[in-house]
Amino acid sequence: MSEKFDVKLDSKSYLPDPSVKENSWMQDYEKVYSESLKDPEKHWENVAEELEWFEKWDKVMEWDHPYAKWFTNAKMNITHNCLDRHVFNGRRNKVAMIWVGDNGAEQVITYRQLYRDVMRFSNGLKSLGVEKGDTVCIYMPQVPEQIVAMLACARIGAIHSVVFGGFGAKALHSRIKDAQAKIVITADASLRRGKRIDLKSLVDEAVVNASCVEKIVVLRRMTPQMELFSEIEVDFYEIMEDVEKECEPEIMDSEDPLFILYTSGTTGPAKGIVHTCGGYMVGTYYTTKNVLDLKENDVMWCTADPGWITGHSYIVYGPLSMGATILISETTPDYPDPGVWWSMIEEFDVSVFYTAPTAIRMFMRMGEEWPGKYNLSSLRILGSVGEPLNPEAFKWYYRVIGKEKCPVLDTWWQTETGMHMLTTAVGEPMKPGFTGRPVPGVVVDVVDENGDPVPAGTGGFLVIKQPWPSMMRTVYGNDERYRQYWTTIQNYYSAGDLAVRDEDGYIMIQGRADDVLIVAGHNIGSAEVESALVSHEAVAEAAVIGKPDPLKGDSIKAFVILRMGFNSSDKLRLDLMYHVRMNLGPIAMPSEVEIVDSLPKTRSGKIMRRLLKAQELGMDPGDVSSLED
Ligand code: PRX
Repeated sequence: MSEKFDVKLDSKSYLPDPSVKENSWMQDYEKVYSESLKDPEKHWENVAEELEWFEKWDKVMEWDHPYAKWFTNAKMNITHNCLDRHVFNGRRNKVAMIWVGDNGAEQVITYRQLYRDVMRFSNGLKSLGVEKGDTVCIYMPQVPEQIVAMLACARIGAIHSVVFGGFGAKALHSRIKDAQAKIVITADASLRRGKRIDLKSLVDEAVVNASCVEKIVVLRRMTPQMELFSEIEVDFYEIMEDVEKECEPEIMDSEDPLFILYTSGTTGPAKGIVHTCGGYMVGTYYTTKNVLDLKENDVMWCTADPGWITGHSYIVYGPLSMGATILISETTPDYPDPGVWWSMIEEFDVSVFYTAPTAIRMFMRMGEEWPGKYNLSSLRILGSVGEPLNPEAFKWYYRVIGKEKCPVLDTWWQTETGMHMLTTAVGEPMKPGFTGRPVPGVVVDVVDENGDPVPAGTGGFLVIKQPWPSMMRTVYGNDERYRQYWTTIQNYYSAGDLAVRDEDGYIMIQGRADDVLIVAGHNIGSAEVESALVSHEAVAEAAVIGKPDPLKGDSIKAFVILRMGFNSSDKLRLDLMYHVRMNLGPIAMPSEVEIVDSLPKTRSGKIMRRLLKAQELGMDPGDVSSLED
């Protein structure tokens, strides 16, 4: 990683409308950041003081590398902060959640109603024998009941393991078994593009040879109602019927586990990332407030599913701990037409919109006329997460959706980090292609393999140097794997991403370290080459891989999806190669370009370069349980 690879940095920065900063929670990023560095524990303690605890902590943090404890011996329950705190402090009839179904159905739920449903479902779970410390697997479509189920688990101290409803039976089975789930909560079906997708039958398949499962709770949303057969199946609403209305929150220790969330990413078997109650609550609350700048009257729409960390942190726990109104939706971005999301922003006055680069690039491909049909003036903050937001996509999002007024926050973080770690603070100059600088209280660096910082402009490994409250505590059943995160590069947390920093401390993510290309001894991030390709007018999406080359180490092969109106030709392929050469230099020029109709992606929208490579080289594709198609 010592080799210097000169990245061509776009020198232009963008400033959103000054009023956004004038009214933001964090007025002066640099001041807040430098103060947080002087005394990180004080910084996080001040945040924790904004929330309600049954008993306060003895110490803010205890660090015994690589194990951290936050808010030691404090007692709390995250649902007290997401529900009771609002219901008894003036937000009783405030809308907590607006839901829009695939078929256009709508539901509006106030904080009082959510509180009532969560308490009843909590008691329902208890009636099935669920106790504090038990694991409950939630495998549901994106409906309000999915969130009710998560909060009910948290309320009674059960550990939820949400499995994204788009996963198949095999992936579900391995997650149920690994976490030893006692209960599976599911639905009869989900709806996607007007089609019914059976979930229950997948659960039936998944629980074979999973003797840990004692009961299956089924939400029956379809007519005619499906029959529940075996003794272990119960109806979602029936278990809420003959139970007490009230359910006091379980007194949780700050360090008790809150949830397990499996992350498969693009390589290797899925890991059960374990998050705990107190630190996670503080981290997600802080970043929802100070990164997404959420305010009392905002309507926040995070388009992820609660089955991903983005949904856990920025649909459920962060926004609800702030008492905000969230929009959730089962819709797909292009059904019934590519205007559906923009119509919902207009209809529900969405002010904070948080999505993924893969969606933004899809909209770019569909053309500006779709967002152009709707009034998007309610938007104040735009966010992106999950992959590098390439400069072309940044500019399109900023101009077409944000009308050159809204900040575009490219937030870098991971399932493991629980909360945002890097971004550009609201109102600070934004640099296309760069995620930005660390969130206050977070200390990051770009280093070589020995852990020594590399100079600005030189690529290296992204590391986090100090513990933060919402860091994962272990990998479920595999603590050795957890230790590796903190021991691979010195004593730092190694994120597995490559990055480069500029003179102003802004960080650009260059992709996963596993996806790095080594061409003639130079390290080239796949993301940079892809970003250069997407900056060509003909390209909608791109993925690059390295192919072993006897001379160069790797030679670069690019797979490219064209924008509407462009056709494949030898001339275009050559153009694209030279376009990269012009942008990044001869070293990064692809030696092959293949035009394709689609790219293999994980269900959360990340390109699986590993699969492209396996296919190209005729190798075993390995674990494909996270593949979308
Ligand atoms: O490679 C980085 C990429 O996604 C990885 C984390 O994936 P996951 O745990 O599924 O969480 C995604 C949602 C937080 C990171 O290691 N990644 C995430 N955000 C960005 C990103 N890459 C570039 N820019 C980002 N903003």
